[in-house]
Amino acid sequence: MEAGKHEICPARGKIQQLTSLPSLAVVKYQLVKALNKDSISIEDISDIVKHDQALASRVLAIANSAFLGYPGRIGAIDQAVMLLGFDLVRSISLAASMFNVFASQYGNLKQIWAHSYVVASIASGLCDKLQGSEKGNCFLSGLLHDIGRLALFRIASESDMDTQIHELARLRGDALLKAEEEMSGCSHTQAAKWFLEHLYFPDEIIVPIEKHHELAGEGPLKKISNIIFLAEGLSDIICPLIAHDSKWTEAHVKLFSEMGLGDKDIDDLKASVETEEASIAKFFDL
Ligand SMILES: [Fe+2]
Ligand SMILES: [Fe+2]
Repeated sequence: MEAGKHEICPARGKIQQLTSLPSLAVVKYQLVKALNKDSISIEDISDIVKHDQALASRVLAIANSAFLGYPGRIGAIDQAVMLLGFDLVRSISLAASMFNVFASQYGNLKQIWAHSYVVASIASGLCDKLQGSEKGNCFLSGLLHDIGRLALFRIASESDMDTQIHELARLRGDALLKAEEEMSGCSHTQAAKWFLEHLYFPDEIIVPIEKHHELAGEGPLKKISNIIFLAEGLSDIICPLIAHDSKWTEAHVKLFSEMGLGDKDIDDLKASVETEEASIAKFFDL
């Protein structure tokens, strides 16, 4: 689809409206309000998250993942805010509330979340190997990288495309993006951009998500964008059994070696994802 056409794409308004879904809207409103306050205390943000028990436990589960560096050591939201920072806990809270909103509708979407968690963990592992990247943003971008697919499922469920869109689940890479464009008027990468912009997510998370199926161009977010692109591709060879929309291509192989990485790194990343496999399954109730 050529530039400009997306601006009038009917899917855009529907995707933006999704951010008004009740449980998402409450968290969005309160967290954005809290973030815009000049002086916000740990208690303020904790109160917002603790208000919803399901949300609080999911935030803690993410905060305690090995990939953020504090496995099993964070017992309370206030502690999570202290260790991980406001921005990250706010983004985690929004991610967790999205899981609640979308998970209640489609059981099979758990596989998408499991794949997302795998990509988040690989991205986080890549950050450890490549100095100078922000690990929290890498993890969150990975966790939310396919949120556009959930948004497209949701808007399709409100139209007569419900069955058709689920048939796209067998497609991967460019073939999937093309089919989504034809069916919904936009790909899941574009849908994610509109959705997350409407939730006031930072560019550090939106840009890598928008670019996760392509090589990043020059710009300040090139490194993190390429990490998410690589993590998405690597999930195809590291966790092939979890349903995924990625493909390990020549472009990934080339970038991987340009970044100074090799087979040994793939083995390391695979081993660290395998150690977390049980908690991924538990977290997503697989
Ligand atoms: Fe994707
Ligand atoms: Fe993906």
